[in-house]
Amino acid sequence: MSADAPARKELTAVKGTHDILPGEVEVWQRVEAAATRLFESYGYRELRAPIIEPTELFEKGTGETTDIVTKEMYTFVDKGGRSITLRPEYTPSVARAIVEHRLDLLGLPMRYYYIGPMFRYDKPQKGRYRQFHQMDVEVFAEKDPAVDAEIIEMADALLRALGVTETETLINSVGCRACRPAYSRALREAAALVRDRLCPDCQRKIETNPLRIFDCKIDGCREAAQTLPKISAFLCQDCRDHFAGVRAALDLYGLAYKIDPNMVRGLDYYTKTTFEVVNLSGGQQNAVLGGGRYDDMMKDFGGPDIPGIGFALGVERLVAMLSLPPEPRRAVYVVHMGEKARVEALRLARLFRRAGVETLVEYGSRGFKAQFSRANKVGAAWVLIIGEDELAKGLFKLKDMAAGTQIEGAPAELLAVVKGKP
Ligand code: HAM
Repeated sequence: MSADAPARKELTAVKGTHDILPGEVEVWQRVEAAATRLFESYGYRELRAPIIEPTELFEKGTGETTDIVTKEMYTFVDKGGRSITLRPEYTPSVARAIVEHRLDLLGLPMRYYYIGPMFRYDKPQKGRYRQFHQMDVEVFAEKDPAVDAEIIEMADALLRALGVTETETLINSVGCRACRPAYSRALREAAALVRDRLCPDCQRKIETNPLRIFDCKIDGCREAAQTLPKISAFLCQDCRDHFAGVRAALDLYGLAYKIDPNMVRGLDYYTKTTFEVVNLSGGQQNAVLGGGRYDDMMKDFGGPDIPGIGFALGVERLVAMLSLPPEPRRAVYVVHMGEKARVEALRLARLFRRAGVETLVEYGSRGFKAQFSRANKVGAAWVLIIGEDELAKGLFKLKDMAAGTQIEGAPAELLAVVKGKP
């Protein structure tokens, strides 16, 4: 190294982001496969939107008074002078895609899901990351409260399918544009009386959007928020009926829930139903998933007047709750000795792989013993042995590493054994 070379800094992942390494990624794959299967069985189809969006999408959609838009977005100006944001959530992207492609005119059920990364510049801590992953589902053009219940039931079904039981489902109604203004006025007046107990941020929210005071995580603000009026006393008849319909449909499913009148969720677009599933032993970042109805977003985007409802599940938070037994590795390791055997090893590996069997070939020039120890190290379930004798006979040996037993046979027979063993 030359004297003036810069000191080497350790290269690590960006703060608040994390690698998902082999060993852990298998759990993610199983969770994603279970979710995809389940969502599709409820009529959802995947919709993949870009990671970057115009900043304006979230200002308009997520809401200009939310913590996400005021403090947490990764926003930059690109070389063309446009303000671009790494999506902090997915809901506005789906609504945008529908308006942009007029998916509402196709006459298909508008039920979409997506699994992918989101970005929020918040203080990283256990269960809270700057790049995290959501499973997002959204339904459009369905007004019936039974759909609200169905989506909550689907979330519950996913958690149960993965063996998660220590959760609680919270629901609320945050009203609509007809009844919320009166509530906001009452809230503003009541919050002004406890102004001194609120943090500077919440003091500002009294003027901008007093509903957002309920999002504050500071203890003093939380205590003060307990004294504020609740939305339930202000709901219009339509919102009351809708909420009663959601509860009746949940009862029909036999799904337990708790009404939490303070749960307004940190996004501006919600109307009527909001819900969350919380991890009962989850500490501070205990919301595994959250969602709600947003009947005005599409129209606010200049699109058709179509209601929406959906939820997003935090994959990191879900994975942290799982204890799935590891799936055994079914790999075959091909060991060989001599040049001809090496050629045969390559041929047989190809045959096994074509049949869908994970197959590794030894490439070092090691003795049989060293090759076996390597097969052990990589956790191979089987070792396929190709030596001079085997080549001469056209019959090969297959060792079951767990049982320690060995059989001999033609390649097709051995392949059938590997594939057939449960
Ligand atoms: P959200 O409550 O902001 O809602 O996020 C949904 C879930 O994403 C949370 O319950 C949590 O599990 C996970 N999550 C959020 N932020 C983080 C973070 N920094 N680190 C790790 N996990 C996190 C939404 O995003 C709405 N788009 C949900 C929705 C869909 N509403 C209607 N449709």
